[in-house]
Amino acid sequence: MPQSSNLAIDGARLWDSLMEMAKIGATPKGGCNRQALTDLDRQGRDLFATWCKAAGCTIKIDKIGNMFARREGTDPNLPPVMAGSHLDTQPTGGKFDGVLGVLAALEVVRALNDMDLKTRHPIEIAMWTNEEGSRFAPSMTASGVFAGAFTLDFARAIRDFDGKSIGEELDRIGYAGPEPVGGRPIHAFFELHIEQGPILEEDGTDIGIVTAAQGQRWYEINITGQDSHAGSTPMERRKDALLGAARLIDGVNRIGRMMMPEGRATCGVITVAPASRNVIPGAAFLTAEFRHPDERSLSSMDKNLANLAADVARELGLGIEIKQITQFPAQPFDQGCLDAIRAAAKKNGLSYHDIISGAGHDAVYMARVCPSAMIFIPCVGGISHNEAEDCKPQWVTNGANVLLHAVLEKAEVVTG
Ligand code: GLV
Ligand code: MN
Ligand code: MN
Repeated sequence: MPQSSNLAIDGARLWDSLMEMAKIGATPKGGCNRQALTDLDRQGRDLFATWCKAAGCTIKIDKIGNMFARREGTDPNLPPVMAGSHLDTQPTGGKFDGVLGVLAALEVVRALNDMDLKTRHPIEIAMWTNEEGSRFAPSMTASGVFAGAFTLDFARAIRDFDGKSIGEELDRIGYAGPEPVGGRPIHAFFELHIEQGPILEEDGTDIGIVTAAQGQRWYEINITGQDSHAGSTPMERRKDALLGAARLIDGVNRIGRMMMPEGRATCGVITVAPASRNVIPGAAFLTAEFRHPDERSLSSMDKNLANLAADVARELGLGIEIKQITQFPAQPFDQGCLDAIRAAAKKNGLSYHDIISGAGHDAVYMARVCPSAMIFIPCVGGISHNEAEDCKPQWVTNGANVLLHAVLEKAEVVTG
């Protein structure tokens, strides 16, 4: 048996797979548009399944489209050690967000095959449906169902802006599988991800040990005014829904700035009706989200939004309806999994420090049902959710090697 310090993944093979997957939905600016449950998502899933089968895995798909590729352990009765992430992207996404975590887990399996190494626990590569929450909100939908945060019916009924539901789209692309969602023991879950922020690159650290992910609250806001003529309606008689949206957007930003340095506040979508140049808009729709590691701070951001909306509604004569569509508190990760990641970074001679995730990840929900933790690697300029998202091959190799050793510690290598 090789000494564990000699165990390594094949960085070039992993990089090639990342670049191959990135061709599906490739954008002219070098990014990826492979949104959840589109035909391109189906193609990405098909390619992933082909690769997993070639690596000797058996694949199971559950009713919400999560895919699990399993490498059997010597004791198939033991619960699996799972590693993975998502293949769906933002509309102007990059090549690494999510994809890295899935394909690095596949590379772990490929490397174990090459080294002819057996583990007591089975290893499963997980590919979670609709992590991004861009086409279908809320995000992390299917890991959420797996962990019991959402029901299957709730998730299947979520609709995109064109009115198509997750259930319809899953059925259409042929990825509503037969397996029940969740409800089975998982020994540990690991997710390798790019940091999506600037910290690791700026301080020259190889590996982020993700001790927690911050909490989030997402909102949909409907603003109702009155459509009327742009020329003949005096300024003081207007009920301008778009003006209300503008005030809210500015206010949401101020709420985030009041909570600096940790707080985050974003409006990502606005639509306005009737959207005619010479009609004062009578309706506007807006999305907003807050993030913070501290639950009380999130509650005060929430309260500030409600107060802001009441002020704007009164001042401009508008109806403003705020619906919170999802929320989760900050999620700490498991000490045992974090120790395995630290030991793995050390074994590989890599620098590391603790970090908190600004983004949401499938590991947030997995942490509710099994010991879970995340590994971050730097990304160029801290840029993500952007076609320019980039990563250096050495960073990818480092992260996958840490994933390999962390998985092996939990899966227990069979010696002799
Ligand atoms: C997921 O990408 C998020 O919004 O954090
Ligand atoms: Mn992601
Ligand atoms: Mn993302």
